[in-house]
Amino acid sequence: MTQLRIAVAGAAGRMGRSVIRALAETDDCILTGALVRSGSPEIGKDALASSESVPVLITDDPVTAMGDAHAIVDFSTPQNSVTLAGYAARLHVPHIIGTTGFSAEQEAQVARAAESTAIVKSGNMSLGIALLSNLVKRAAAALPDFDIEILEMHHRNKVDAPSGTALLLGSAAADGRNSNFETTADVSRRDGARRDGSIGFASLRGGTVVGEHEVIFAGPHERVVLSHTAEDRSIFARGALAAARWSQGKPAGLYNMQDVLGDLVP
Ligand SMILES: NC(=O)c1ccc[n+]([C@@H]2O[C@H](COP(=O)([O-])OP(=O)(O)OC[C@H]3O[C@@H](n4cnc5c(N)ncnc54)[C@H](OP(=O)(O)O)[C@@H]3O)[C@@H](O)[C@H]2O)c1
Repeated sequence: MTQLRIAVAGAAGRMGRSVIRALAETDDCILTGALVRSGSPEIGKDALASSESVPVLITDDPVTAMGDAHAIVDFSTPQNSVTLAGYAARLHVPHIIGTTGFSAEQEAQVARAAESTAIVKSGNMSLGIALLSNLVKRAAAALPDFDIEILEMHHRNKVDAPSGTALLLGSAAADGRNSNFETTADVSRRDGARRDGSIGFASLRGGTVVGEHEVIFAGPHERVVLSHTAEDRSIFARGALAAARWSQGKPAGLYNMQDVLGDLVP
């Protein structure tokens, strides 16, 4: 079996380490490059830290990290991901971007790089969330008169609210109704009755919750609730590896997890 050669950017970060662990648990993929920022104390260490495998030396040089890779999986910083997208475009290596927080200008730079290589970019790499988003869009279309409320809960240290994933789900619901998410979203409800057609959000914070999302469709005397529970960050790493597999042989372009999911379900 030819293994998929994967480079990891942000290799010393929480998600980078999670991707490296996920790689160690798969047979069809192998870590071949590990990229960290210049000046990192990790440079020169073995990313696998195992005496049983060929060492993968951590580097701050993108070309060394991704030169012979089939794909690069990147959970780092927006600035680094933009720079890497340029390298990925020049080297024609598919780039899987899980990094969040891009400015409009940075989004445009990634889109330009995607003219030369396949880029899969998503603020939530979980396949479960990709499926939920797909179901939410369909439910919103099928139940046009139901009120839509999105409830999310995360650990006590999360600073942004609603979560990016809750907004992604809200946007999918708006798509299902051909409505404008910017004008239908109600992210800071105050006193007063519910606005017709709005999509409401509620955020709970506490403990160590990795991520809970519920999309509630409330109609007269009945409710449909679609939900997702993230138990561990490894779901994002496994989703990113699914995207790396999917990206092989794809034409240049900017893709998301709906594209990846589309090839996995009939
Ligand atoms: N899409 C998803 O499903 C998903 C899921 C979870 C997280 N995320 C996002 O993924 C990103 C990383 O999250 P995290 O929790 O892993 O954060 P983290 O632990 O802070 O990791 C980010 C890593 O990127 C490294 N980095 C910074 N500049 C770099 C450069 N020029 N080259 C290579 N590496 C560089 C940082 O190195 P130093 O620490 O040495 O500066 C750090 O190790 C965030 O944007 C987060 O929101 C997305």
